[in-house]
Amino acid sequence: MTTPWRLTLDASLLAHRDDPMCRYVQLATLGLDGRPANRTVVFRGFRPDSDDLIVTVDARSQKMAEIARSPFFEICWYFGRTREQYRLGGTARSINDSDRFLAGLRTDVWRSLADAVRIQFDWPSPGTDWQNHDAHVSAEIPDSSTPLTSFRLLLLTVERADYLNLLADPPLRQQLEIGQDGWTCRRVNP
Ligand SMILES: Cc1cc2nc3c(=O)[nH]c(=O)nc-3n(C[C@H](O)[C@H](O)[C@H](O)COP(=O)(O)O)c2cc1C
Repeated sequence: MTTPWRLTLDASLLAHRDDPMCRYVQLATLGLDGRPANRTVVFRGFRPDSDDLIVTVDARSQKMAEIARSPFFEICWYFGRTREQYRLGGTARSINDSDRFLAGLRTDVWRSLADAVRIQFDWPSPGTDWQNHDAHVSAEIPDSSTPLTSFRLLLLTVERADYLNLLADPPLRQQLEIGQDGWTCRRVNP
């Protein structure tokens, strides 16, 4: 059964289907120093037959160390046209080529990326001291059929959602949570 937040989110995505900006979301993790860590990432769709969100990441990036220490995440996602905000919280899982069941999905997503995105996984390690201009501009476009080892998928399993709709009159705010008996939804004051 489709989850309640997913139904609403699908409608928001549909309402913004001609707006590529709607795929940029803010992904927060717990920093290694215990402080919040937040960054923009691209929503790459849902894992087939699942409500898990897919994000592509570099294995060498800071967020991967953070997720290895604490897998919890929160996404904040704003849809301008419909004035909706989603805060989706849950558990992240990183997929590399050693995962038998999901290696195919990783390869499919790699193949779907533009060359300009694929090449970034061959750049010097993110977040380390600037090396030189050439290390970036002379990187060769990687083989489109085989993902580089630095390429990871993050699968984000949502366990709770806070939904705010400011276009509704009166404004609508709902808190959804997954429990043993499925999803519960509570309407709260905005
Ligand atoms: C528009 C935009 C889209 C981005 N998309 C991604 C993405 O899909 N995956 C990613 O890992 N970083 C993406 N980034 C870069 C991140 O925001 C961040 O700078 C980088 O991942 C390093 O973050 P970290 O040090 O917290 O790991 C994007 C940045 C911008 C501005």
